[in-house]
Amino acid sequence: MPSIFVFDAYGTLFDVHAAIARFRDDAGPDADRMSALWRTKQLEYSWTLTLAGHYTEFWTLTERALDYALAMVPSVPKALKPKLLECYFKLDAFPDARTCLRDLKAKGHKTGILSNGSPNMLKGAVDNAGIGGDLDALLSVDVLRMFKPRPEVYALVTDHFKCAPHDVAFVSSNRWDVMAAVSVGFRGMWVNRAKLPDEYLDFPPVRTLSDLGALADLP
Ligand code: LAC
Repeated sequence: MPSIFVFDAYGTLFDVHAAIARFRDDAGPDADRMSALWRTKQLEYSWTLTLAGHYTEFWTLTERALDYALAMVPSVPKALKPKLLECYFKLDAFPDARTCLRDLKAKGHKTGILSNGSPNMLKGAVDNAGIGGDLDALLSVDVLRMFKPRPEVYALVTDHFKCAPHDVAFVSSNRWDVMAAVSVGFRGMWVNRAKLPDEYLDFPPVRTLSDLGALADLP
């Protein structure tokens, strides 16, 4: 087992659909479709801007993606925007995130986050979840002003922990993020909560896990 476990934040430790879950009654029948589009657009903006050589911080992209999703799904009241953003800033962690991090620390491993999230939104989510004490590093792409999956971003981990790529277990529920981590030599672990089909077959994870609880069960 590697001794350094680094996690993606949004979708892996934090539930990106937790914000809409709080307002499902007010949001109406298209709530989940709007939330899925919000996430899709947030990621698309990060990729397209990076490809074009631009950078706008993730919180701004999150707000612009929500504006787009609300415009595309007019049945969801636009008045929910400030409440949804407030929840996204303090996004709920998945129930297994806290126990997983605690178990890893108890076994003597180092832990960290590598995320597209800007430093203040990462701090907001980590503080709200109360998991800061079990994390050795909060690494944001913001210092490089480019988003995942640029390889430079993943080098933030090896630079911070002064380790070789093979020493890092990189845990993400985003298969494209695992692809990029594997391509730089990390031991990629894919958390496939939604039982999605595999993709990026040239860059397979060393493990596919059903949730973060399964990570603590590894030998
Ligand atoms: C992150 C996004 C990709 O936390 O979920 O980096």
